[in-house]
Order: sequence, then C-alpha cells, then structure tokens
Amino acid sequence: MRAAPIFVLALLGGCGEAPPETTLDGIFTADQAQRGAGLFDTHCARCHSIQEFSGRAFATVWSGVPASALYLRIANTMPLDQPGSLGTPQATALTAHIFAANDMPVGETPLSGDLEFLTGILITPPES
Ligand code: HEC
Repeated sequence: MRAAPIFVLALLGGCGEAPPETTLDGIFTADQAQRGAGLFDTHCARCHSIQEFSGRAFATVWSGVPASALYLRIANTMPLDQPGSLGTPQATALTAHIFAANDMPVGETPLSGDLEFLTGILITPPES
C-alpha cells in the first residue's frame, strides 16, 4: 500500500522517461498551437474570445480537470451550431492553442487526441 506514493514521487523526480502528467509537461507543439489559433479565428471567434479561455477565467473552470474533458467539450459540442464538425487534428490544435494561451510550455510531440492519454493529463495553469 505504501508503494504507490513513492512511485509517483519517483516519476516527479524528473527522469526523462516519465510520461506526462499535467499540461506543464510540454504536451503540444508550437506549430500545433499556431494552427489552433488560426482555427479559432475561423470557427470560434464569432462567439468567443481567447480571453474567455485564458488566465483566471480558464483556471477557475478547468484547473485540475483532465485534458480529455476540454478536448471532448470542443470536439463533441463546438462550434455550438455545428457540433462534431471538427476533426481530431482541428480539435487537438484548438486545445493546444488554449493551453498556449495559458502560458503552458510547448514540447516536441504534438498533442494527441487519444482519450486514454488525455484522461491522464491534468489541466494545470502555471499560476495555480
Ligand atoms: C455559435 C456560437 C459558438 C461557436 C461558433 C463556438 N462556441 Fe463554444 N460555446 C458557445 C456557448 C454559447 C457556450 C456556453 C454553453 C454552455 O456552457 O452551456 C460555449 C462553450 C464553450 C466551451 C466551454 C466553456 C467553459 O469554460 O465551460 C468551450 C471550451 C468552447 N465553447 C470552445 C469553443 C471552440 C474551441 C470553438 C471553435 C471550434 C467554439 N467554442 C465555437 C458558443 C459557441
């Protein structure tokens, strides 16, 4: 029963092999976030501003929530008048854009739309 917390601490210890656990672990690329910014202008900006999804407003709603929840909210329910019209590459790029807007660090691997992966990532704004 004691092994689990020790194992978690070992993962947090900074070994390069550790799987990502939060949005601070470099889980999307700069290119992907940039693509997401363009998609946001095209598909989302008529109803939203990125300010709604950044800073304190974002942290209040999404801090500590699995990344899968944000991804699915976008992929399955947005745009409100055309739900489900975004493909996985679009929905992941939009999610990456929102993470970048919250000063989350970029990494080398694009954000995946794999739900098992996304469920294991906790949304963690840098300021929280
Ligand atoms: C036609 C208007 C419209 C468009 C276009 C639209 N949305 Fe929304 N979106 C809404 C409304 C209205 C809500 C709030 C609905 C609710 O919470 O019941 C919402 C809610 C959301 C939420 C949840 C907000 C939160 O903090 O709980 C996210 C995330 C989101 N939208 C992302 C997007 C993205 C990304 C796009 C572009 C692909 C998009 N939306 C396009 C109208 C729109």
